[in-house]
Amino acid sequence: MIVSPHQAEAIVAGGQADFVALARGFLDDPRWGWHAAAALGADAVYPPQYRRARPEHWPGAALAHARAREAWQEGA
Ligand SMILES: Cc1cc2nc3c(=O)[nH]c(=O)nc-3n(C[C@H](O)[C@H](O)[C@H](O)COP(=O)(O)O)c2cc1C
Repeated sequence: MIVSPHQAEAIVAGGQADFVALARGFLDDPRWGWHAAAALGADAVYPPQYRRARPEHWPGAALAHARAREAWQEGA
């Protein structure tokens, strides 16, 4: 079961798989990809209508992403 972006990254970087897919993680957090990108220090592409939620435009993003990181650490 893949929960955190660090798990997913390790599987791909370690050559165990060419890609990973999640189901329930996205049901729980539809912005899993954005939060994962932030946790891994990567940039995610936001559609225009969502750009105001990017960290540089909305200070609350830091709190939302921190909560996601905490949840992943609890599940690790
Ligand atoms: C709502 C939902 C729909 C799914 N639909 C399919 C499907 O159509 N075909 C399939 O092969 N797996 C389907 N799955 C299984 C997922 O692809 C995945 O194998 C499984 O949920 C385990 O991954 P997870 O731990 O990320 O949820 C579905 C899972 C969920 C939660």
